[in-house]
Amino acid sequence: MDLIPISQPCLGELERKYLIDAFDSGWISSIGRYIEEFEKSFAAYCGTVHAIAVSNGTVALHLALEGVGVKEGDEVIVPDLTFVATANAVRHANGVPVMVDVDPETLCMDPVAMERAITPKTRAVIPVHLYGHPSDMYRIMGIAKARGIDVVEDAAEAHGAEIGGKRVGSFGRCAIFSFYGNKIMTTGEGGMITTDDGELAGRLRLLRDHGMSKEKKYWHTEIGYNYRTTNLQAAIGLAQLQRIDSLIEQKRAVIERYRRNFSGMMRVTLNPCKPGFKNTYWMLCLSFDGWKEQSRSASMAELKQRKIDTRPFFYPLSDMPMYGSLVHETPVAHELSYKGINLPSYVGISNEQIDYICENVVSLLELSRS
Ligand SMILES: Cc1ncc(COP(=O)(O)O)c(C=O)c1O
Repeated sequence: MDLIPISQPCLGELERKYLIDAFDSGWISSIGRYIEEFEKSFAAYCGTVHAIAVSNGTVALHLALEGVGVKEGDEVIVPDLTFVATANAVRHANGVPVMVDVDPETLCMDPVAMERAITPKTRAVIPVHLYGHPSDMYRIMGIAKARGIDVVEDAAEAHGAEIGGKRVGSFGRCAIFSFYGNKIMTTGEGGMITTDDGELAGRLRLLRDHGMSKEKKYWHTEIGYNYRTTNLQAAIGLAQLQRIDSLIEQKRAVIERYRRNFSGMMRVTLNPCKPGFKNTYWMLCLSFDGWKEQSRSASMAELKQRKIDTRPFFYPLSDMPMYGSLVHETPVAHELSYKGINLPSYVGISNEQIDYICENVVSLLELSRS
């Protein structure tokens, strides 16, 4: 039996068709009709006016932070529980990431902790929609607005997630997405920034392409970057976007089967879903009350022996050597982080595979029903 991987992209005939079309057109670099169509369609999907395609989610964050004006020494509030790129991008923009605690109801930034961390140096906040669950955006936007702080949503893991019917990516001044191979939709590597702010969109496009003037070719008005994406990637992205409703539905069905299999199991918690929020379940999250870092690692090693791939929840950023000294107390992030794993939950996993995974987790942890 082969290892059941933690994730796997779902690529089909439509992706192949558009990719070959882009290839045959000769427009394989960063100009081409698929880029424009992908940007337009992605903006429409998120309910924003603009979308700017870039090379990956990390540079999308860097560009967004520069775009909203983060400068040397500015503080940017981030949740302690997230992928490291969220904080690294703040550093890339010469800002100072300030880690705050998360809310167990969402796994995302706790708005109360965020408000407490605001200082006169705070320039922006990055709520991360972790593992597909939206952050509490109405509360976060309310606080940020009252305190004059920009909000950059990190929606790298939450394409299509909603609060009361409004999609993530449309709440903040701008938002970023990742299209890495394990994401809800992929372009291989890739990213996107969404915004309603026309001026900001223009500046992001300028910075994406070496700060080159639109009116005067090879005249550069500021130091920019090459953060462009390719027509080939956009072709795959457009196909994925046209299939995203089905991809999300299939993912939800996978999570539902996990829920049924684990229902009533004591000491086990799966992905949260706060009422009124739509989680698009990037990855199955399983927390076991009783795991500490070592026992969790031992369980993951045992599952690997049984051909089941897993990942640990993200480690708190504040436990990492680069970020340790900057932090507020984050007890919830610490508690959640060390007792959680992700299990295979990609589109295309079979019911038999899910049942096999669940049986093994249950027997390994000697779980009993309540
Ligand atoms: C929360 C979060 N932010 C940012 C990123 C960075 O995206 P990318 O890998 O496309 O650079 C990721 C990606 O894995 C992520 O999970």
